[in-house]
This record gives sequence, structure tokens and C-alpha cells, in this order.
Amino acid sequence: MSVGTVSNVLNRPDAVAIGTRTRVQAVIQELDFVRNESARHLRAGRSRIIAFVVLDSGNPFFTDVARGVEEALATSSLAVFLCNSDQSSTREKRYLDLLEEQRVQGVLITPVGTDDSDLDRLRARGIPVVLLDRRASGDSCCSVSVDDVLGGRMAAQHLLNEGHQTLTFLGGPTSVIQVRERLLGARSALEQAGRDPTSVRQLEVRSLTFDGGRQAAQLLLNGPHHPTAVFCANDLLALGMLQELTRQGVKVPDDVALVGYDDIEFAGAAAIPLSSVRQPRQLLGRTAAELLLEEAADSHHRHRQVLFQPELVVRTSSRRPTPGPTA
Ligand code: RIB
Repeated sequence: MSVGTVSNVLNRPDAVAIGTRTRVQAVIQELDFVRNESARHLRAGRSRIIAFVVLDSGNPFFTDVARGVEEALATSSLAVFLCNSDQSSTREKRYLDLLEEQRVQGVLITPVGTDDSDLDRLRARGIPVVLLDRRASGDSCCSVSVDDVLGGRMAAQHLLNEGHQTLTFLGGPTSVIQVRERLLGARSALEQAGRDPTSVRQLEVRSLTFDGGRQAAQLLLNGPHHPTAVFCANDLLALGMLQELTRQGVKVPDDVALVGYDDIEFAGAAAIPLSSVRQPRQLLGRTAAELLLEEAADSHHRHRQVLFQPELVVRTSSRRPTPGPTA
């Protein structure tokens, strides 16, 4: 039995006659043989890993996107490693250094900041990099994202249409470009409505998380301004704010209307269903993975920046209460 035959049975079983394949599989089982991926990796010079570096593995937005990545890779022999930068550029860099050493097949990433030097280094090593949930500047690499300026505009226009005179924007670090663009979009809605775009008050918390939303609610309740409408940079912030405001006896939407961003499953399932700007999360993941596979396979690949449109989903948390029957 030759090494080539055993290799074919492991890697291309359909290319081996059924009788030979059965005999080899019986010997593999008898010897309890498990292939040595590190050895294969050394020979091939590439591991069979696609890494997905996310900002917050606790945010369902990213696990929904990762599901789309896995769908696209289902028919390949590749696996997805999820790496959580936790919004830390130090952790992100540590992961990127490790992924370079591991010679992964490719990297999908939602970057923490705007310094792409580590990503440029991976590309120089021939490791394809696709930006996810972040539009690439120019033609430096592929990217898949949603028009966040339009999404922010849709959220703010909805709140203005519901009769709110001023808006508060709850965001995280403006180093996260998605946050900055959603705020830009909200401001553009006020400008389009003939209002002062700088009148959008800003609340900023360190992390785009549920706890960040709860902290922001406490800042609002203890602060001088009591807005009637808050647009949150993502659903976790909005759900955290919703929980804390409700706990403190504030009525949503009667006292404060809320809109989130992503439309994760928990948004519609909340006790007060949350209005949100929907991102096509699994489609984002599938598209990014397909671009990465294409780039890894085709040396003549041309980078593309795919931009999807957001969709506003209006639910109870921002809908103007309909006046009850007059007595
Ligand atoms: O990627 C940055 C943010 O955009 C994440 O918090 C996620 O919720 C998406 O909306």
C-alpha cells in the first residue's frame, strides 16, 4: 500500500477504487491513525484555517456573521477560527502576529482602529485579508459592509418623523468607523430636515455592549439633559439602555424612544420590541468568505468593496404612542 494511495484515500477518496479504499480505511481504523495537520501544514506551507477577528464575540451580530462565513466554507476543507479582539488594538495585534506565524489561508476582520499596517504585513506574506463590517479605503483589499451613513440617517429620520425635536446619539469609541458613520448619518437627517446637525447630543461609553448601554442610561438619568429620543450605535447598547431605563421607571417609548442598529434576534424579542437598523448579517459573512476564497484561489483576483443597504425595522420602542380613547 503506497503513501500516495493512503493520501488519496484521506484527501480524495472518490479517486480510489472502492476495494482499495475499504482496505486502507480498515488499516487506518486498526492503527487508530489521525493525520498530522502540522506536518501537512509544513509541506503545504498553508494551514486550512480561515480566521475571523471580531470586535466582541459576545455580540450576536458577529456570531450571526460568523454563521454566514461557515456556510460559505461548508463545501471547502477549511475551518473558521473566531478571534476576539474585544475592541483592544493590543489583542488584535497579538492575534494578527499569531495568524501570520500560522500561515492561515486568509483573514476576515472587523478592525478596532484605522491603522492597517498589521494587515498590510499579512497581505505582503500572501495572506488574503477581507474587511468585514468596514469599508476598505480605495482598492487596498476586499471589503463587505453596510452603508452606515444611510443607516444612521434612516434611524434619525424615523425619530424626527415621530415628532422628536432633538436626538441623542449613544456611541462607543469614534475610532470604530462604523460608529462615526452612523452619527454622521444621523446628523445628515437633521440637516435635511432644516435642523442644526450639531444639535445631536452625543453620549459615549467605552464599549459597545449591553453594560455600556446600562451605564449610558445612568448617565442620562443623572445628567442635565433628558432627551425624548436616543439612537444607539448598536442593539446591545440599546437593549442595555432599555433595561436600565425600564428598571428606573422610565417608560419606553412614551418618555424616551429608542432605536438600535444590527437587528439581532434579541431586538425583536425584547419585552419592549426594539426598533433597529437591520444589517444582513449572514449575507455579510457569506459574501466576505466568498471574496476571500476567490482571492486565495485566483492570482488575477481584483479587489471589490461590496456595500449592502440597511433596512429600518420599526417596533414598539420608537413608535409614537397612539393616544388612548378620549374619556
Ligand atoms: O462593528 C462595530 C459595530 O457594528 C458592532 O458593535 C456591531 O454591532 C456592528 O453594528
